[in-house]
Amino acid sequence: MIIRPAKRIRGSISVPGDKSISHRAAMFAAIAAGPSRLRHYSTSADCAATLSCLEKLGLQVERNDCEVIIHGVGLNGFAAPDCELDCGNSGTTMRLLAGILAGQNFAATLTGDESLRSRPMQRIIEPLEMMGAEISSNKGRAPLRIQGAHPLQAIDYELLTASAQVKSCILLAGLHAEGKTTVVENEITRDHTERMLEWFDANIETGKPEREPETVRFASITGPAQLTARDISIPGDISSAAYFIAAAILLPQSSLEISDVGLNPTRTSFLDQLRLMEPAIEIRNQRADCNERRGDISVSGETSSIGHQTERITINGALIPQLIDELPLLAVVGSQREGGIEIRDAKELRVKESDRIAATVAGLRAMGCEAEEFADGLRVNGPTKLRGARIDSHGDHRIAMSFAVAGLVAEGETEIAGSDCVAVSFPEFFDLLESVGK
Ligand code: S3P
Repeated sequence: MIIRPAKRIRGSISVPGDKSISHRAAMFAAIAAGPSRLRHYSTSADCAATLSCLEKLGLQVERNDCEVIIHGVGLNGFAAPDCELDCGNSGTTMRLLAGILAGQNFAATLTGDESLRSRPMQRIIEPLEMMGAEISSNKGRAPLRIQGAHPLQAIDYELLTASAQVKSCILLAGLHAEGKTTVVENEITRDHTERMLEWFDANIETGKPEREPETVRFASITGPAQLTARDISIPGDISSAAYFIAAAILLPQSSLEISDVGLNPTRTSFLDQLRLMEPAIEIRNQRADCNERRGDISVSGETSSIGHQTERITINGALIPQLIDELPLLAVVGSQREGGIEIRDAKELRVKESDRIAATVAGLRAMGCEAEEFADGLRVNGPTKLRGARIDSHGDHRIAMSFAVAGLVAEGETEIAGSDCVAVSFPEFFDLLESVGK
């Protein structure tokens, strides 16, 4: 894909349904009893992989564009699959499904593409084995063969890595366990699972453990639990909206409206950071639906004071899990600030769909920006007039989209190699960008 510079962003758009919420809605509806209708289901390849795995487990799934009906079969109604379950590029599909499979009375194999087969899975193997499942893997990586056990044993587990996927995996396995399974996280991660389990009538408790710092949270599920089928309306994906919001604040005189975006507080830290740089971002019409907050986001007027902001922004510590998917994009935004940006405590970025620290630093350097790489992050100096270049997406959707935004503010043409990967989360991305980039 070739990206040419734009002067401004103008238009009113909506973005596909939230990917994290869509995965969960499909899986929770599958283990509930009866039909659930999911509206504005994500158009991503990742969420399609979740549906196809569910079908291989015997689920009846009706899909009509963004509306999906799942005929839930209850916790133990799945059929043993007669082939491997291919999760494609999707870590969420693999890690959450593993929690459900751990409680089945059959064995199943989860696999994925080359990137997913290289990502760490020991983080779910350990707690699921403690609960009684038997798992064989390729040295802690997929393919994972999961021999379920029934019932599972309830556990108390402290997360070693701040990960909503691992937390969700354990809570899903906890539905199959006798008694109370508790997960404690030392840094708050996205809480869609907890909210949706409540929406599906599971017996879930959440809170801050006594005498613990503000960033510590627990979630407990009491099993065995039966979920009630529920309809869900899925808000737009704030992580997809992020690219358009960033482009609008980087290009002066932009005016952009994005309707009906998910505003779960564990997902909006990226917005908070951008609003510190550019107050022209407004949130309107906030409301709650299906236990999740949503609203409309607008960026208007004389934006772009960004170039003159001299202090360095540092993003680190407990903030990292709250904007983990937006960090490559924040690095691109930081390249346009006089004070630049520094990101630390983010070594988790190295085990995402690609090594996002290396890919971001390499891309920024190719565009003429001074960037330093650390084991756990990066530092970007600005403001840099970026130069168009050939950027390797490393098959990573978030790298491809972040550098498409960089290309809009660069001089000359930017080529994103392997740009098809945007379909992993946002197939409509380039068409939508073309429609609002002026
Ligand atoms: C996700 C959690 C995050 C995020 C991923 C989606 C989820 O991963 O990076 O894109 O849906 O739970 P981790 O929680 O493993 O960091």
